[in-house]
Amino acid sequence: MSHDKTMNLTLHVWRQKGPKDPGKFEVYDAKDVSPDQSFLEMLDEVNEDLIKAGKDPIAFDHDCREGICGMCSQVINGMAHGGQDRTTVCQLHMRMFKDGDTIYIEPWRARAFPVIKDLVVDRIALDTIIQAGGYTSAHTGGIADGNAILVPKPEAEYAMDAAECIGCGACVAGCPNGSAMLFTSAKVSQLAVLPQGQAEAARRVKEMTETLQECGFGNCTNHYECQAACPKGINVKFIAKLNREYLKSLF
Ligand code: FES
Repeated sequence: MSHDKTMNLTLHVWRQKGPKDPGKFEVYDAKDVSPDQSFLEMLDEVNEDLIKAGKDPIAFDHDCREGICGMCSQVINGMAHGGQDRTTVCQLHMRMFKDGDTIYIEPWRARAFPVIKDLVVDRIALDTIIQAGGYTSAHTGGIADGNAILVPKPEAEYAMDAAECIGCGACVAGCPNGSAMLFTSAKVSQLAVLPQGQAEAARRVKEMTETLQECGFGNCTNHYECQAACPKGINVKFIAKLNREYLKSLF
């Protein structure tokens, strides 16, 4: 990479010492950024400079850095994950920006996701929803024969589409109501169409939906921002499925 292709950027980064700190934007220069760097690599370099200068580095979540774990969670220029179609922050490359750009970086903002520090939010509420029923109870023991319970191809595909959800919370951050309906609907739908999910289906949807409300998430009012923000392209049709499953569970 030749030097003349690098970029100089101005970052406005949300800094917040802890949950009770009001927080504010601070401005940093990101110099000589390669277009081939990932967004997180760019932040790593900014942090190295902050550490060398004896300052507190910017706290942000990450783990796999390949779009699988769902840990990276930043609102970039007002868009969860930066707004590039089906892309997590860790998969975002600096080539989508240009020299001289100003970039605003914020944490997920939702009542159910309190800020822990800077860009890191507490997403335990999503785990609480899963604990309420996002599983199938099964006896442990030998590995079951893959052909013991046959699953028709359309159902298997439908379940796999729902299972693409990585639980990052972008749907919540994108939603004007801070709703986690897309997340919950993907988790409910993934099991609702499989034979293994039937025994607990009614209890699962009821308890997961009620937990969703208790955790402080808002309701869905059909903005579809969740689908637009989702880095895995989870479709809002799963919310319709969640609503149908919930109604079924009441009778
Ligand atoms: S760090 Fe794992 S999905 Fe981004």
